[in-house]
Amino acid sequence: MLTTCESGNPPPVTVPVSSALFLPLPSISVFSDPRTSPMEDDRLNSPSTSVVTLEVLGHRLQLSQDPNSKHLGTTVWDASMVFVKFLEKNCRKGRFCPSKLKGKRAIELGAGCGLAGLGMALLGSNVISTDQTEVLPLLMRNVERNTSRMMQANPDSGLAASFGSIEVAELDWGNEDHIKAVDPPFDYIIGTDIVYAEHLLEPLLQTILALSGPRTVILLGYEIRSTMVHERMMDMWKQNFVVKTIPKAKMDSKYRHPSIQLFTMEVKDQSRYRNPGPTANQIPESSRGSDKDGQSCEAEDARDATASENIMDLEPGKIDDWEIRRLGSMAARLLREVKIT
Ligand SMILES: C[S@@+](CC[C@H](N)C(=O)[O-])C[C@H]1O[C@@H](n2cnc3c(N)ncnc32)[C@H](O)[C@@H]1O
Repeated sequence: MLTTCESGNPPPVTVPVSSALFLPLPSISVFSDPRTSPMEDDRLNSPSTSVVTLEVLGHRLQLSQDPNSKHLGTTVWDASMVFVKFLEKNCRKGRFCPSKLKGKRAIELGAGCGLAGLGMALLGSNVISTDQTEVLPLLMRNVERNTSRMMQANPDSGLAASFGSIEVAELDWGNEDHIKAVDPPFDYIIGTDIVYAEHLLEPLLQTILALSGPRTVILLGYEIRSTMVHERMMDMWKQNFVVKTIPKAKMDSKYRHPSIQLFTMEVKDQSRYRNPGPTANQIPESSRGSDKDGQSCEAEDARDATASENIMDLEPGKIDDWEIRRLGSMAARLLREVKIT
């Protein structure tokens, strides 16, 4: 049985899977049993659960979140919105169009509520969305509900054919058993807002290296909150990958912000793989993205990133959800700096 309502909405409607899903459902499974995790179902249905909605690639995604939990993964973070809106803007041609992503294996690290992985699956990739065990129940719920809702809302649109698949798995960075269980290497490794603490940089890097092969493309998006962590991360990554900053001009005109950056990375030292297949230079340009696509605008973006929060040009009575989110983020940052004596 699947329930198809969020708390705060009308009472849940229980829909038998067999009669509701008249289209082939994309594959959804979970590698670890979320019922054994500390986040119980009660918590999922508590009044503190709210719903974030976002239109992505013509579908209205609804993500349950629980910002009051003690875990960062139960909130939808802004970088994930910037990430999916970037995919949406750049999927008509080039390296992110469905013909390039169809059937490609992608893994999302630190998926949280799962928005970025859903975006990749909508473009045809077969995604494994991963996180720590505490986050899996909410992640699983978001994946299940959004896929079944979209399939029911679009019975004739060809969505069943264009959608890839999405699975949920436990993956704690650095855990060799978890890494082995997802069967690397992947064509794409994605992650949003997973770089925020210095002690996580090394396990994250080692996990990305263990999941990648010679042709893997890594796509990361995150909000710079600490210059120190950002610089340390860039040093570590540049030793292992060719890192390109995605120019702000390539992002959605609304879902972008000076402190949120997106990066593509490709493995530098391909000799680390025993059977590397074609080298970076032999990989067709079409599947690696053109220079123009990956063009680094580091000077421009460095200026952006170090700039203070941009002053928004707000029209009274016309503040939208994104502006409210960014104002909230600015307020939280200011409050952190207030010292109560
Ligand atoms: C700031 S949240 C971002 C969540 C989501 N990607 C988003 O953008 O909304 C950071 C995520 O990284 C995950 N994370 C942190 N440390 C981790 C670790 N050692 N192994 C796996 N995931 C981890 C958290 O569980 C959380 O989901």
